[in-house]
Amino acid sequence: MSIKKISKTQPEKFEFNPKNLEVAKKIIQNYPEKKKQSAVMALLFLAQRQNNNWIPLTAMKYIAKFLEMPYIKVYEVATFYSMYNLSPVGDYFVQVCTTTPCMIRGAYELVEACKEKISKNENELSKDKKCSWVEVECLGACVNAPMIQINEDYYEDLDKEKTIKIIDQILKGDKPKSGSYRGRINSEPENNRKTLVENKNA
Ligand code: FES
Repeated sequence: MSIKKISKTQPEKFEFNPKNLEVAKKIIQNYPEKKKQSAVMALLFLAQRQNNNWIPLTAMKYIAKFLEMPYIKVYEVATFYSMYNLSPVGDYFVQVCTTTPCMIRGAYELVEACKEKISKNENELSKDKKCSWVEVECLGACVNAPMIQINEDYYEDLDKEKTIKIIDQILKGDKPKSGSYRGRINSEPENNRKTLVENKNA
């Protein structure tokens, strides 16, 4: 279970750039005028993307004003969900799912791989400052457990060795293929089985 770490170093100011300001205004239009606070999660995500994948406190204050809602409510949302980073992360941000299905399929081997290849502790940058990792709760790919997310891609059906190879590739600046590492398409059954009918005790 990861603990949210709020950066001690914070920028003095945050505001959406002109392009994101337009995106934010469009997002708000999806909600009734009096319910625009419902856009808080989308706007936090937008702020995170604009700010090198993490959300400073000034961005939370800016969004609170933007949505005319109390700052503490924006803060509560940002600190609750693991998808929001509250301190700087590497250009390559590795999230390791350690919730039960991944855990019983070997997720802690993947954690070991991250400790060996990236940094001893989560939320720490690698030596070259390119990469960081964190443990997270279920990322919704349990059928392909254990798995990691790197930036916006999922890498599934992993073990320690495969995870090390993937991390080596990203540290070299390559882009490893995403998806299953046991040759499955999405979460299809293995060994070409499409039905249980012919397999007793399958
Ligand atoms: S438990 Fe790991 S993706 Fe769901």
